[in-house]
Amino acid sequence: MLCKIDIIGCMNDFCNKYPSDNMLLYNADQYCRKIASINYGKNAKYFIETLGCQMNEADSEQLAGMLTDMGYSQAEDISSADIIVINTCCVRENAEFKLYGHLGELKILKQRNKELLIVLCGCMMQQSHVVDKIKNSYKYVDILFGTHNRQEFPELLFDSISEKKKIYEIWEESRGIAENVPVKRSSTITAYVPVTHGCNNFCSYCIVPYVRGREHSRHPEMIKKEIIQLASEGIKEITLLGQNVNSYYCGMDFPGLLHYISDIEGIERIRFLSCHPKDLSDDLIKAMVEIPKMCSHIHLPLQSGSNKVLQQMNRKYTKEQYLMLIDKIRASIKDIAISTDIIVGFPGETEEDFNETLEVYEKAGFDFAFTFIYSKRTGTAAAKRPDQIPEDIKDTRFARLVALVNDMTLASNIRDENKVLQVLTGGKSRTDRSVMTGRTSSNKIVNFKCDNDFTGHLVDVKIKKGHTWYLEGEKV
Ligand code: SAH
Ligand code: SF4
Ligand code: F3S
Repeated sequence: MLCKIDIIGCMNDFCNKYPSDNMLLYNADQYCRKIASINYGKNAKYFIETLGCQMNEADSEQLAGMLTDMGYSQAEDISSADIIVINTCCVRENAEFKLYGHLGELKILKQRNKELLIVLCGCMMQQSHVVDKIKNSYKYVDILFGTHNRQEFPELLFDSISEKKKIYEIWEESRGIAENVPVKRSSTITAYVPVTHGCNNFCSYCIVPYVRGREHSRHPEMIKKEIIQLASEGIKEITLLGQNVNSYYCGMDFPGLLHYISDIEGIERIRFLSCHPKDLSDDLIKAMVEIPKMCSHIHLPLQSGSNKVLQQMNRKYTKEQYLMLIDKIRASIKDIAISTDIIVGFPGETEEDFNETLEVYEKAGFDFAFTFIYSKRTGTAAAKRPDQIPEDIKDTRFARLVALVNDMTLASNIRDENKVLQVLTGGKSRTDRSVMTGRTSSNKIVNFKCDNDFTGHLVDVKIKKGHTWYLEGEKV
């Protein structure tokens, strides 16, 4: 079904030395054709709900690609679908709650329509206790697979339909990166391009390495081929994705990869997500300066401003090193926007530790941030600690952090007032058709009045007013 091949023609021996970096060639076309013939003339529809991060979204676009090849088209809403796929996330407890919320709704839909197919996949399914729970308590789920074998979807679906049975198929480990999987993108302007899969860092709070497996880097030629294809389809902006994208290595390192893909005609902007501070090299900063298409934004998760907490989180840097890095980035890259992730209420976090986080946040002068309340994840090192922080303390600290983040985000947006910024327009605003909305190179949302439709164009916009969540401007 899937063939494992040696990488032939790699730039050096690196990929061949590490068999885990082998590619899996997608070879499920025969199953797609079989299901497409079953679906022929039926106007069969799919609905995908994505509960996780950008990587999860990229996976969902592959699932949509496979479903399209299987003869399904996208349903307007969940209740009109013949097959419902929930692509799950388990990074925090509330992500898991979302699935259980949906399962109640799915039960009702299944009772109404016995032919409805229900598929669960993604990170949550890589946890055996979840799979056991679904098998025992949610028997109306038809197919279940994990992050490592999503390319098997057509075969699993075919087996389920033809043999009229439930299929639960999980690979415990990744066997390589599946290439040539069909993709149906959700945007015609911007696109995600995964470059690494998995994570080796084992931050002590984080479940991702357990559910996504060890880090694998995609072959640079496959990445370039995909981006050339995207450019030919009219995509203007790409975001290179990885849990720790800057530790990419497959014959070339991440700055090397940026140079390698920098001259693809039609691609106007390049972004990447997420960067780990410990792996942010001078070469990467240099590449961001040298390559004009690089967006002036870097997402650099800090997590905590206390050296004690950082060490216990296994982050491998101190607050001083982090702040020096920020200084270096700002000194080298003009007008760079820096965003971050912060966790409050990590086990053992004292009031002093938390105050240090606020202090470092201010010193770093972040432009925006994603803030999270620590969530205990079974199987991680931090979950075993006895000194978990009570919920009410976590909530109070979280509110204090959010207040600071909002103030500083607003200040950053006000600093943009009267500047002329280049905006890649995503389309008209849903609430006001005379307003277009897009993003700056610094990844800020801009709304501007405009009678003509500039969807997919790069336009210059003069910023009139900075709000907390967006900039308001006028086309020049
Ligand atoms: N690989 C990326 C993103 C990982 S998940 C990175 O390292 O930057 C995105 C964010 O979720 C993390 O940066 C972290 O801030 C947050 N997160 C991860 N595990 C968490 C947990 N158990 N509780 C709360 N937040 C968590
Ligand atoms: Fe999780 Fe840390 Fe890996 Fe990010 S770098 S995915 S926070 S273990
Ligand atoms: Fe969630 Fe998996 Fe992403 S756990 S955050 S969907 S890598």
